[in-house]
Amino acid sequence: MKAAAARAAIAHVPAGSVVGVGTGSTANYFIDALGEIRGRIEGAVASSEATATRLKALGIPVLELNDVSEMPVYVDGADEITANLAMIKGGGGALTREKIVGAVAGKFICIADDSKLVDVLGRFPLPVEVIPMAQAHVARQLVKLGGQPVLRAGFRTDNGNIILDVRGLKIVDPSGLESEINQIAGVVTVGLFAKRPADVLLLGTAGGVETRCHPA
Ligand code: A5P
Repeated sequence: MKAAAARAAIAHVPAGSVVGVGTGSTANYFIDALGEIRGRIEGAVASSEATATRLKALGIPVLELNDVSEMPVYVDGADEITANLAMIKGGGGALTREKIVGAVAGKFICIADDSKLVDVLGRFPLPVEVIPMAQAHVARQLVKLGGQPVLRAGFRTDNGNIILDVRGLKIVDPSGLESEINQIAGVVTVGLFAKRPADVLLLGTAGGVETRCHPA
């Protein structure tokens, strides 16, 4: 189902464009599919070192985001997604670069199998990237918000930071909580993608790939 959703995303990639590429097992299927049409795109912007390595291995040119003036689509997976296309991301730890590349793209296309579709975000622990010296401070603030933060052991992001995975949050106002957590000193990025949700969800199901568009 992940692979089918990933392959369906190829139809959303305009010829000659630069494509933003996410991180994770579903994004990896998309990279493989992109490899098959590499002659039809200018190149890709990667949301992680792992994605850059995989793109290059398939002969897809990897461009720096600062050198790209237009990027029609960004394609990435999610850990959870709602009917409003708000997401939790960052299970793979690439949330900051994912949010940056997604922000630049004209359209955010989420590819996911149907286990990722939820009514309310928060069963999946919410990843928060944090500057290491702020770990204790940020953890205390997250507890005040009702969460139980746990340090992702032995992990550093591509930016050299730590991740706190926050359990116990029932996220009824994803956009509000995204703002609130972003305001905590020492937080680099929260893995809530609600202010800039996906525009299109390609959902792999047992019956095929469903296309859902942002309701707005
Ligand atoms: C990576 O940091 C994440 O945001 C991924 O997009 C997310 O974890 C989905 O991963 P899978 O496609 O492996 O489920």
